[in-house]
Amino acid sequence: MWERDKEFIRCPRCGGGLELDMFMEGDEIQEGILSCTACRLEFPIIDGIPIVWDDIAEYFARRVALGGRLYRIVQSPKMRVFVKKTLLSAAASARASAAKGAAAAYDRTNLENRWSQIYRRSGDSEFYHVIKERLARLPSGRRALEYGCSVGTVSNHLASPDSGHAYEVVVGIDSSYDAIAQAKGAGTGACYAVGDSTSCITGRLRFDLVVALNVLELIEPLELIRHMSSQTLQGASVAMADPYDFERGPGPVPRRIDEHLLRAALVEHGFEISADTAEPSYIPWRLEINTRTVLNYKVDLVIGART
Ligand SMILES: C[S@@+](CC[C@H](N)C(=O)[O-])C[C@H]1O[C@@H](n2cnc3c(N)ncnc32)[C@H](O)[C@@H]1O
Ligand SMILES: [Zn+2]
Repeated sequence: MWERDKEFIRCPRCGGGLELDMFMEGDEIQEGILSCTACRLEFPIIDGIPIVWDDIAEYFARRVALGGRLYRIVQSPKMRVFVKKTLLSAAASARASAAKGAAAAYDRTNLENRWSQIYRRSGDSEFYHVIKERLARLPSGRRALEYGCSVGTVSNHLASPDSGHAYEVVVGIDSSYDAIAQAKGAGTGACYAVGDSTSCITGRLRFDLVVALNVLELIEPLELIRHMSSQTLQGASVAMADPYDFERGPGPVPRRIDEHLLRAALVEHGFEISADTAEPSYIPWRLEINTRTVLNYKVDLVIGART
């Protein structure tokens, strides 16, 4: 994490600024704690990656193997203490849930790691070429934000000088630590954080472009659109795409959406749909699951401009 990234990452509970206590620094901040003085919440930076999750113990309760792995790689004594304390409280909350008869939470570590590799392998799919070409035609702006950025295929493109964009700041948010680690590894200078897209992780900052691709089965669509709308000013753009495959994902989102409802919701939240995405599209999104399995989605892309 670069020191300047602190400007763009806020407390996910109150949206307030975060203070940095740095434990270890290389070119970037490697280990440290970001803390909100208002909520008294603390968020670790581990191996250069900020984990800005409202309930950090709950994050690791659902990712026990990741917690163990990170505990083994942290170097500074203060970070060791922080991670150990967090893992103990994650284990205590898992025991309390079990005592109430709840089923043990599924450990998401391997699933998230596996999918981050699939997205990395699939970065050359036609879908990404189409979206990059379409984004290059948007009016230029200073700041871009991507929710559910995964391994950074689009965020890193927006941050790289040869993309034809002039964004000074690109922020990528994803709930998967391993995906963010891969995104950051590209070294494009984009600001990455592990976080929940429906939290106020970028506070009251406004962006010229907000992107959310293939996430509607995982993040409640109408809540996400409301959130994206609140982060844009007049003239800003949003780009959303989805295959509307609501049978995938860890569990059903409460309200499903389709190509017509997505457009209607964007219009309701103050966006004008671009003429070339007014009709539903079927862009091939090819995911290479393994050497013998390919998932061929047809994705609908919608671009909106804030009126
Ligand atoms: C289907 S993938 C799409 C990745 C990328 N947008 C693309 O199109 O290549 C969905 C991504 O959303 C992330 N995700 C799921 N729920 C999230 C949440 N609540 N907040 C942030 N990211 C989330 C997952 O970790 C995953 O990387
Ligand atoms: Zn706070």
